Amino acid sequence: MINTARLACPIESGEAPGPRALPLLGHFREFNCDRTGFLARLARDHGDVVQFRLGWNRFFLLAHPDYIRDVLITHQTNFHKGRALTRAKRLMGEGLVTSEEAFHLRQRRLMQPAFHRQRIALYAKTMAERAARLADAWQDGSTVEMRQEMTRLTLGIVCKVLFSTEAEGDAAEVGHAFNDLMALTAFMLAPFSEYLEKLPLPQSIRFRRAKARLDRVVYRIIRERRQSTPRAIDARQEDMREQESDLLSTLLAAEDHEGGTGGMADEQVHDELMTLVVAGHETLSNALPFTWYLLSQHPAVEAKLHEEIDAVLGDRLPTLEDLVRLPYTEMVLAESMRLYPPVWFLGRRALQPYEVGGFTIPKGSYVVLSQWVTHHDRRFYPDPERFDPQRWTPEARASRPKLAFFPFGAGVRGCIGESFGWTEGRLVLAVLAQRWRIRLAPGHPVAIDAVSTLRPKHGIRMTVHRR
Ligand code: HEM
Repeated sequence: MINTARLACPIESGEAPGPRALPLLGHFREFNCDRTGFLARLARDHGDVVQFRLGWNRFFLLAHPDYIRDVLITHQTNFHKGRALTRAKRLMGEGLVTSEEAFHLRQRRLMQPAFHRQRIALYAKTMAERAARLADAWQDGSTVEMRQEMTRLTLGIVCKVLFSTEAEGDAAEVGHAFNDLMALTAFMLAPFSEYLEKLPLPQSIRFRRAKARLDRVVYRIIRERRQSTPRAIDARQEDMREQESDLLSTLLAAEDHEGGTGGMADEQVHDELMTLVVAGHETLSNALPFTWYLLSQHPAVEAKLHEEIDAVLGDRLPTLEDLVRLPYTEMVLAESMRLYPPVWFLGRRALQPYEVGGFTIPKGSYVVLSQWVTHHDRRFYPDPERFDPQRWTPEARASRPKLAFFPFGAGVRGCIGESFGWTEGRLVLAVLAQRWRIRLAPGHPVAIDAVSTLRPKHGIRMTVHRR
């Protein structure tokens, strides 16, 4: 059947379709009022390749999983992350998230060992212990703001696995300095904040101070570690250190044997650490509160989750090995990240003209791939708004195109922390659900705020009841 909407209002004939645009603003107003809704309507009304404008910039939303695969994997060399990185660089510098091309590949190679399975097994212990510490701190019947709780927990975990083994205080100090900075997130994400930041406004002064404090702490830790860690360590020593070393020592010991470019300078280690602190907690600190909210609204799913956790774990803390025996816990997390993908869109800039779905995307324009749009597409998820972990049985998964679900991106720019994220998410769910039944506080409104990540707009206030 011909999609008549697709023919109804092309911006210019022969080009990808899209809604009519205002002369100067383009679609800025509609986009800004309701970002996720705007993108979802574009795909619903115009098809799998849709163009829109924000100011002078042209964007092309690609909604089909095959097109997403081509941009992220098959033809990834045709794309850069582009200007979307400018804001992120203020916090993360030239780290793995923000670098491009050969430098990015070198950094990725250097950091990969820190994410090997044996390493994740070491981090898993910290994850479960930290979650248990939080579970012990809650009072029966009390009300907590779940996003704050999950942020404190996930930030604590990432700081501990980055900095922990040699000085517990370092992890705490970075966590505190980072918390000060996070209080200014709204300011950092505001439009034009990169310019406002340079003016003598109270918030920009606080931002610069908090950032300087954090930088001082991180550089001090790097210097102290360098003094106590030999720069290159041989394989036998590496084995010996395996059990005790944290992620920072792995970064300091990394040598680029393949590329022959040596180890990382202090500035580079600093930028990678900042990147890991941000990327390593900002996503889960949103995914987990949405998961608690969904469970609170679906008691039958919650009961099944409790049943699995009780049968496999009883009262003991879960380990990495337990996770294969907790498939339903994984299905719950997957379904939650389908409905509320922590990263809700990816932007790429076309380096050369690009053909897709019979249309040409001109060089220099932006491609948008949206987890929000594709994860809510009824072609792949019938009754898409319904929370249903059964969509994640092996058979159901196999019946869909792989990139109908891409919360972690894919390809060379895919999330390096994907197994870290799955491990932490499942362990935290298991430990907290083992002890607590969590309910939405009466009357608390739950809405999304689609900024650089998908956050709960008003936080999520919940009451905790001992099981
Ligand atoms: C639920 C948890 C997580 C989600 C949903 C998530 C999502 C993503 C996504 C979508 C990307 C790709 C961005 C793009 O293509 O533009 C990404 C990249 C990245 N993530 Fe994650 N992430 C999670 C957890 C983590 C954790 C725990 C870490 C580190 C400890 C981490 C570190 C990174 C880094 C360093 C990159 C950049 C990779 C590269 O460009 O080579 N992420 N993440």
